[in-house]
Amino acid sequence: MKLRSIPIVVRATAILFGCVLLVQMLNLAVFLICPPVPLGPLSFAKVQMAILDGRDTTGIEIREAREFRPQEPALEPLRDMVAERLGLPAGRLRLELLGVGRWAAGPRQAMSLGPTGGGLDLETLDFAGGIKLARQMDDGSWRVVTSSASLLRGWLALAATWVVASILFAIPFAFFLAHWLSWPIRQFAEAAERLGRNPREPDLKPDGPRELRGAALAFNEMKGRLGRYIDDRLDMMSAIAHDLRVPLTRLAFRLERAPEAIRHRAEADIAEMQRMLGAVLSFVQTTHVRRPRQRQELRSLLCSIADDMAETGRDVRLEDGPDVVLQADDIGLRSLFTNLINNAVTYGGAARVRLMRSPGAAVVEIEDDGPGLPHEELERVFEPFYRGEPSRNRETGGIGLGLALVRSIAVAHGGSATLENLAARGLRARVILPA
Ligand SMILES: Nc1ncnc2c1ncn2[C@@H]1O[C@H](COP(=O)(O)OP(=O)(O)OP(=O)(O)O)[C@@H](O)[C@H]1O
Ligand SMILES: [Mg+2]
Repeated sequence: MKLRSIPIVVRATAILFGCVLLVQMLNLAVFLICPPVPLGPLSFAKVQMAILDGRDTTGIEIREAREFRPQEPALEPLRDMVAERLGLPAGRLRLELLGVGRWAAGPRQAMSLGPTGGGLDLETLDFAGGIKLARQMDDGSWRVVTSSASLLRGWLALAATWVVASILFAIPFAFFLAHWLSWPIRQFAEAAERLGRNPREPDLKPDGPRELRGAALAFNEMKGRLGRYIDDRLDMMSAIAHDLRVPLTRLAFRLERAPEAIRHRAEADIAEMQRMLGAVLSFVQTTHVRRPRQRQELRSLLCSIADDMAETGRDVRLEDGPDVVLQADDIGLRSLFTNLINNAVTYGGAARVRLMRSPGAAVVEIEDDGPGLPHEELERVFEPFYRGEPSRNRETGGIGLGLALVRSIAVAHGGSATLENLAARGLRARVILPA
């Protein structure tokens, strides 16, 4: 099985297993490199040497103090037993148990035996957390002997450092694994996003983990159904537009015998209807038919459109800048920019065209100095047959398919088309095409 096709369930399990294994191995390493202080039976002889002679030995810490806390009553029996064993007066000895030793069975058992110790041997007692003895010296100061507690503290500090270090060590590892887990999902999301914007995109490759392969197949199925649905609608539009032309031609023919006054106005209406039907047919043609992509020099294309329009007396200016080469459908691109420039000239009086290069894309901006559009219409005007304010549009003779066509072509090329109002006055159309 290829690495990329490992199911997500297996990946997640591997991540969990990997992290647990890593942390356990780190813990084991700490344990082996730095074993914990043995907390087993404490050699009483060591304590004896320290408290009686002040002799320092490993695992025992001695310090002098002016004062020491009063004896805890619960530990008095044990203190008495220890004092007796050391040959010291009980009143000049104080005893404390440290850490887990407070709850260890050994001392408690000893305590319950009373001051004599009942014959219990101190050597076998388990002072698991350590013991602290304070002996009052002749000058009134206290000699405090602490067993293993400081060592235990040191070891605990080391262990805590290791826990933090192992977490820090595990973070990049976990990040890497999480990345590995989510990578195919992100790939799938990106492909689905592309497909969502343009149903004409090629099918998703059923690749990667088993779960995503299934999702890709379902997605392709859905895309196929959507595509067929769109195709049916476009076919219907084109069939209606096409079939209406015949009766319209017949009507125009019959009108030739009608009275002059009616004939002129009816002929104008018929001409308008024929123009609209022509626009619908050309819309279907441009968006429906998938033409081969060829190498296009965008600047030359824009230059030729601008020249054609300038020849018919319209104010179109292409600003200087770099050229961008891309793979595109010549007819589609020509129609896209002609529509935008036409709009700028029709609604804004003049068009300024700018071509720029951005990483991986060509950006074309077409600006005018017209009235712009209300904010809520900036998106709506891309809907087929949507036209802006009637008072402004009455004379232009359009049918509201221009921008729908613009967007459809831009999206089919993997790009986008948007409109925004300029700060002062006018509208800016921006087309981004991958290059
Ligand atoms: N540069 C612009 N300035 C102001 N309004 C605009 C501009 N471009 C488009 N519009 C508005 O957007 C509407 C839709 O434009 P679109 O190009 O889709 O259709 P149309 O120009 O009306 O007809 P046609 O199908 O002939 O292009 C227009 O009717 C117009 O109101
Ligand atoms: Mg238009």
